[in-house]
Amino acid sequence: MVTRADIGVIGGSGLYSLLDDATEIEITTPYGPPSDVVTVGHIGSRSVAFVPRHGRDHRFPPHRIPYRANLWALRSLGVRQVLAPSAVGSLRPEIGPGALVIPDQLVDRTSGRTQTYYDSGGVVHVSFADPYCPAGRVAALAAARSGDWSPVDGGTLVVVEGPRFSTRAESRWFTANGWTIIGMTGFPESVLARELAMCYTSISLVTDHDAGVEAGEGVTHEEVLAFFAANVTRMRSLVADVVTALPHERTCPCPNALDGLKLPFGLPE
Ligand code: ADE
Repeated sequence: MVTRADIGVIGGSGLYSLLDDATEIEITTPYGPPSDVVTVGHIGSRSVAFVPRHGRDHRFPPHRIPYRANLWALRSLGVRQVLAPSAVGSLRPEIGPGALVIPDQLVDRTSGRTQTYYDSGGVVHVSFADPYCPAGRVAALAAARSGDWSPVDGGTLVVVEGPRFSTRAESRWFTANGWTIIGMTGFPESVLARELAMCYTSISLVTDHDAGVEAGEGVTHEEVLAFFAANVTRMRSLVADVVTALPHERTCPCPNALDGLKLPFGLPE
């Protein structure tokens, strides 16, 4: 029975059939339970833990996801590299539904979400200038290119609070700022991974043009869900390929994120 993993995937529920020899593990953390039981197993020779971000029954909206518990649970299983597939809207006319973006920057437009483990017992400021693991990005791009994708290399993901979609004016403003894609879950997930010195790579599937790009009704929830569901098989095989492409040794800066400081609450190293 597998009870630990090197690689974590936080993703849509369609993705857990990804794992061979899967074992379900119930985990409790100092921040409560994660979104659901964590499934641990293998993809080829790599040990992988999977958390369904919104819960299996999709009960957690983006602003209610237990982000701290999810990252903590993965870290406590041994995970050091996290892949984060998610659905995003596009802020650019030339990037349409079906495009895959591996962003290299992020803008946080959420409000009121707890975004740190270090809110008592000392001051910790992690560096977040480059929010994504450079080695994870290289692996994601290489895996996508050798599959049937033409991934967009880089771009800025703006993360909004939701659960509503953006107004046309907000969306046009995001585009005017030069941002590329828009989602609701990429923060604080990414910074919490950084605070636990884990690598984090966003694998963003464009499901729609956001309101400022497309004339007409603007994006709907049904549109996003239907598009993601239609692409789940493709995404599952892409995530498996990215897992396989991730380096075994971490030579990126991510393991040094804490600069010798201790992990919170005595998490094992
Ligand atoms: N997720 C998928 N599409 C989105 C959009 N247009 N805005 C915010 N989050 C999204």
